Amino acid sequence: MAFSWFDEVGSMPPIEVFELNRKFLEDKDTNKVNLGIGAYRSEELKPWVLPVVKQVERSIVEDASINFEYLPILGLESFSSAATRMLLGADSAALNENRAFGVQTLSGTGALRLAADFLASCVPSVTKIAYISTPTWENHRLLFLKAGFNEVREYHYWDAEKRALDLKNMLNDLNDAPERSVVILHACSHNPTGVDPTRDEWKEIVKIIKARKLFPVLDSAYQGFASGDLDADAWAVRHFAEQGLEFVCAQSFAKNFGIYSSRVGNLVVVTSKAETVPKIKSQLTILVRGNYSNPPAQGARIVSAVLNDEKLTQLWKEHIRTMSGRMKNMRQLLRGKLEALGTPGTWNHLTDQIGMFAYTGLTEAQCQQLIDKHHIYLLKSGRINVCGIAPGNADYVAKAIHEVVTTVK
Ligand code: LMR
Repeated sequence: MAFSWFDEVGSMPPIEVFELNRKFLEDKDTNKVNLGIGAYRSEELKPWVLPVVKQVERSIVEDASINFEYLPILGLESFSSAATRMLLGADSAALNENRAFGVQTLSGTGALRLAADFLASCVPSVTKIAYISTPTWENHRLLFLKAGFNEVREYHYWDAEKRALDLKNMLNDLNDAPERSVVILHACSHNPTGVDPTRDEWKEIVKIIKARKLFPVLDSAYQGFASGDLDADAWAVRHFAEQGLEFVCAQSFAKNFGIYSSRVGNLVVVTSKAETVPKIKSQLTILVRGNYSNPPAQGARIVSAVLNDEKLTQLWKEHIRTMSGRMKNMRQLLRGKLEALGTPGTWNHLTDQIGMFAYTGLTEAQCQQLIDKHHIYLLKSGRINVCGIAPGNADYVAKAIHEVVTTVK
C-alpha cells in the first residue's frame, strides 16, 4: 500500500446527539419519535420557523441597502448591544457604566469557545482548570480542553435519588476548587436536567464563587424557555452582575429564535473597570481573526431587527410564550399518562423540571430498548426533549416507557 499522510489518523466516536438525530431521520418506522436533539417542535412535530423571523427575513431581502459585505470582526454592533441589553437588563449598572459589552459569535458554542480561548490565552490570572456540572451539556468539556485548559473537573449538581439539585455537594465542590479556577454554570434551563437553582440557592452559589475567587462562565442558551419570561430567566446572570462579579456569558439565539443553523450568538463580558474594555476587545479581535475572521450577517440582522423594534419584540415574546407553554403542557401530558398507566416510580419530576429537557431517570438499558424496540430516540442519559411529544404520540411514548420500566432494569 502506498504511503498516506493520514495512515496514522485514528477515528473518534460520533457525537451522540447528532448521531441519534441521523438515525432517527433514517428510521422508516411510522411510529418513530424524536426526543433527542434540543430543537423546538410544533404540535405537529415540525420545526417552527417563527413568524416574526419570516417577516423580518422578507423585509431584509427587499431592503436594497443591505448587501453581503464583511461584518466587522466582532460582528454586528446593533445586534450585540441589543443582545447584551436583553441579558443584563436595560437598567444594568454594568452597561450604564460602560463596563459590559457583547461580541457576536458563532452561536452559543462559538461564544463559549471564544471565552475559553480568551481565558486560556489572554487572562493569566485564571488557572487552566475548568469546572463543569455533573451532568452537563457534553460539549462543555470538549470546548475547554480544545481551548487549551489543562483539566476539566466536575462539581456535583444532580441528586439522582431525589431527582433534584444537589446543592450541598455542589457548594462543597466549589468551596474546594483551587482559587482562580473557572466555573461553568447554566444561566437557566439546565441542560440536561431541567433543574435550576432557586434564587436563594443562586445567592449561596454566588457567595462561594466570590469568596473562593472563582471565575464564572455562564451559558445562556435558553433565555425565555424556563419561565416564558426573558427577564425572569436572566435573573441569575443579573445577580452575578449586581454582586459586583466579573464574568462572561455565552448567549445563544438558536433556540429562542428557532434559528439553529444560522449560528447567532453573543459573548457578553462584564468587567469591573471600563478602562479594560478596549483591551479585552482587542484580544477578542485577534482571537476571532485567527479563527474565522468575522461572523455571518444574516441571522444577526434578524435578531437585531427584532430586538431593536418594540412591536417585533412583543411579537417574539408571544412566540416564546407559545414555545415554553407547549413544553409545560407536554410535561404535564406525559406525567399524567404515566401515572394513569401506573408506571412504577414517581413522575412528578417531569413537571417539576423546566424548559426543553426532562431528565427522566430511565437507565441506559431502558433508553436503548426505547430506541431499538419502540423507535423512540433519546439520549442514553435519559434526557428527553419534551417538544418531541404531542397529543398525537403521547400515548405511544407513555406506553413504551411503561413497557421498558416494567421489563428492563
Ligand atoms: C442539544 O443539547 O441537544 C443541543 O444543544 C444540540 C447540541 O449541539 O448538542
